[in-house]
Amino acid sequence: MTLDSWADETLAGIHARGTYRRMRVLDGAQGPRMRMAEREVVLFAGSNYLDLAHHPAVVQASIEAAQQQGCAAGGSRLISGNLVEHEALEAELAAFFGREAGLTFNTGYMANVGVIPALLRPGDLLVSDALSHASIIDGARLSRAEVSVFRHNDIDQLETILAAPRPQGQRVLVAIDGLYSMDGDLAPAGLITELAHRHGAAVLLDDAHGTGTLGARGRGSAEVAGVMGKVDILMGTLGKSLGSFGAFVVGSHKLRELLVNTARSFIFSCALAPPQVAAARAALALIDTEPERRHALQAGATRLRSRLAEHGIDTAPSTTHIVPVVIGSNAATMKACEALLERGFYAQGIRHPSVPEGTARLRITPMASHRPEEIDAMADATAELLGKFSGEAPPPPSQTL
Ligand SMILES: Cc1ncc(COP(=O)(O)O)c(C=O)c1O
Repeated sequence: MTLDSWADETLAGIHARGTYRRMRVLDGAQGPRMRMAEREVVLFAGSNYLDLAHHPAVVQASIEAAQQQGCAAGGSRLISGNLVEHEALEAELAAFFGREAGLTFNTGYMANVGVIPALLRPGDLLVSDALSHASIIDGARLSRAEVSVFRHNDIDQLETILAAPRPQGQRVLVAIDGLYSMDGDLAPAGLITELAHRHGAAVLLDDAHGTGTLGARGRGSAEVAGVMGKVDILMGTLGKSLGSFGAFVVGSHKLRELLVNTARSFIFSCALAPPQVAAARAALALIDTEPERRHALQAGATRLRSRLAEHGIDTAPSTTHIVPVVIGSNAATMKACEALLERGFYAQGIRHPSVPEGTARLRITPMASHRPEEIDAMADATAELLGKFSGEAPPPPSQTL
């Protein structure tokens, strides 16, 4: 059949590049220990960083919502699916970040591919960090705006791009991740926001991984950088540290009004289901009432990075709970990942196109509830296997795509 031969042709290329992907099947509640192929693994690959997905208050809220409102919103937000609870969650998100308004999306991916084309038209300009998430790139493609990419966290290059003469009326949006999802470093969001505003550009900060986990009050990388009230669009996800599913943006009332009217991924998609909304609301409250979770997460991440450093493993540029161990070759990375699994640890091997070519890596993400001895054992196993499979000192993470 033609379609299968198309698939064979494409898949052969993927195999040849060493980037073939397959899904691993996990069993049990999302947490620091799960089952895979009938064995217990210690999970260092998830984004349920604060272990809220299985928190009793989050689960209970979700159960009650399912019992009282059912399992589906039953429509898009603009056609019968807009429930009191969606509006409440959005008001709570806006208050959480000290912004005027919030709007939920079904995923972070859908937020970025909806927001960017809602703001930019063909001929406008999206300026993006070289390591920005794929959803920012895809949002830019959908907008048909021009795209200009600056080297990762390179403020000087960003300034050169922003200072260049541009057509009158051209809208410029600078889109960055707050916390880079494959390197674990932070954007200099304060400098970038100041620079962008000085040049008449708006800023979209994607804080998928920082929300709930970073900052004195868990408001994320925007809080760390002091730009929570300054970035024009602050985006975060509900499916990672907030233990539910979905995503949101917060900003001005005008931004919300614009998105409700123009963001296609918002308009043409079913609304988040009541149990997801209720779980997210419960989790958001826990960010304030259980700060010890983010403290434990960051203490565990620091412990992991320093144990790896004691073994001579460089985890730069990470300063957070996303800890990359760059190996370089695709094959060696996947062998190390498999060998770790044999020892009962799951840290995913990450290859191009998730990271630049030649910088394949183990991406190790601790959780608030990992025990110190699990973190130490993970570091020891990684060190042992790296010696076996890398064959060479890991190259530094690439600065360009
Ligand atoms: C930086 C960043 N933005 C957006 C997303 C997409 O979020 P979601 O998984 O909710 O689609 C991710 C997901 O990993 C991410 O890392």
